[in-house]
Amino acid sequence: MIIKKRVAAAAGGASWPILLTALLVSLSLVPVCAAPPLASQEQRGKRIYTEGKGRKPIHATLMGPGIKAPGTAFPCLACHRDNGEGQLEGGVRSSNITYFNLTKQYTGLRPSGRSHPPYTDEALMTAITNGLDPAGNHLNPAHPTYEMDTEDLRDLVAYLKILGREPVPGVTDNEIRIGSLLPESGPLAEAASDITIFLTGYFAELNARGGLYSRQVRFVPLFFDPAQPGASAAREEVFCLVANLGVPPEDEALDVVAKAKVPVVAPLMVAPETAYGMNRNTFYVHASVRDQARVLVDYLAADLEKQGGKVAVLYAADESGEGGAAGVREQAGKHDLTVAAFVSYSHGAYDAPGTVHRLKEAAPDAVLFFGEGADAAAFLSEAGQQGWQPLLLTSAAMAGAALFGLPPGLTGKVFLASPVGTPDLASRGMADFRNLLRKYPGTGRHTQFLATVFAGAAIVEKGLTDAGRNVSRSTFVDAIGKLYEFHTGVTPPLTYNENRRVGARGASILRIDGVTRRFFTAAGWREPKQ
Ligand code: HEC
Repeated sequence: MIIKKRVAAAAGGASWPILLTALLVSLSLVPVCAAPPLASQEQRGKRIYTEGKGRKPIHATLMGPGIKAPGTAFPCLACHRDNGEGQLEGGVRSSNITYFNLTKQYTGLRPSGRSHPPYTDEALMTAITNGLDPAGNHLNPAHPTYEMDTEDLRDLVAYLKILGREPVPGVTDNEIRIGSLLPESGPLAEAASDITIFLTGYFAELNARGGLYSRQVRFVPLFFDPAQPGASAAREEVFCLVANLGVPPEDEALDVVAKAKVPVVAPLMVAPETAYGMNRNTFYVHASVRDQARVLVDYLAADLEKQGGKVAVLYAADESGEGGAAGVREQAGKHDLTVAAFVSYSHGAYDAPGTVHRLKEAAPDAVLFFGEGADAAAFLSEAGQQGWQPLLLTSAAMAGAALFGLPPGLTGKVFLASPVGTPDLASRGMADFRNLLRKYPGTGRHTQFLATVFAGAAIVEKGLTDAGRNVSRSTFVDAIGKLYEFHTGVTPPLTYNENRRVGARGASILRIDGVTRRFFTAAGWREPKQ
């Protein structure tokens, strides 16, 4: 069994005692998250609707500019949405093309502003291929006309008949099920059980207030056995996942979840170091090490007044270490900082005397370090022995508590980035969180952890609220993907958009009080300079 130690986040501030640690274990199984299968004709029609792919090639012609393109460039979904209800974009409304709506009898004008008899299957095919409604009126040229094989056209029409009425996984008329992948045993089991108690409570309170759009929201913990990869997790269908714990980011379980387009709200997972290839259905809360490194560089240049100076970077050759180094590289130029040395080391092969000697030679104004706490401690001790006390900037989550063991003299010039902001104690969210914690405390040992879980649940509730009664997985993802400075009270304001799946992309700066052995906040939470 692979066990990787990762620390998810660290917090500063007197009332927020520190670290939340996530041990990540390999998980080779997942609950079944897919929707019940459609009949095969509808299935094929759905592929045309969502991907523009039929049994034969499909072509779309844009009437206005007269451009002909492959069908895959203009799937119906792009304009009519996954529930068929359409949307208003650039002043043009793409119609509600649910079968119920199209085949309804109208006496006056339809919402399209035209009047025509109800659609029949043939009329529907004519609209798709020739852009005419059942009365022969031309549709708005924003709707492309399509050339496709008759069989494909029949499949598409079969699908249009169930469009908008497809069962949404995990959602029934009166219930919506929210899952969480949690370890049932091992070092994280206690935290997992506290999450279960807390989230069950969170949604019980929501239901007591009437639920959402006359649905009850039910929390479904999906336990896996971290000691037995391959053993089966609870195979229950859920609408989305929130606050997964102990699943490594590269685990194939998450691949399966991603392929099934299951939305994941991941407050406890470390955001990937680059946005490249990021899954748009997954929403993180806290910043990656890379973005934390960028805040450290901003702080060094501006607050510590080293603009135009020289830095050295020391990092472990792993994803987080390299993320930190990349962040420094990206940000240094913005402050005219020269990177005098980039030194990496592999795990277990850290040579403190040699490294210190090398970095000291480069005579930097500061050392930026991204690696394990023990290696940071070894670096500082060795530097002290060589009569050098450099400014050291690092990530609290990576290096954090290991530095508490050093003599105060060595930690006086250490600054740490923490992705967790100072909570807004007077906020409504904070009050709600405290009430919940009082009512559903669990062991009472994971307060900081549960604050982050609370933020995850608040995102889910907000996404469901904004998506409305007719929620689907993709309208839910779209709703969260539009949040701008969403206030949870327990995290910095969260912003998501199409290019941004990390809600609070910044860090605060902590220092170490050598006497009390605690962090204190040196500078408030901020985003990296763009
Ligand atoms: C680029 C955007 C776009 C795409 C892609 C698109 N449509 Fe449309 N569609 C529209 C717009 C806009 C209208 C509204 C036209 C109007 O009201 O005059 C429309 C109208 C329609 C109508 C007529 C509804 C009515 O009220 O009479 C049907 C049926 C339809 N689309 C089906 C489809 C199907 C099926 C596909 C995929 C094969 C598709 N559309 C792809 C934009 C699009």
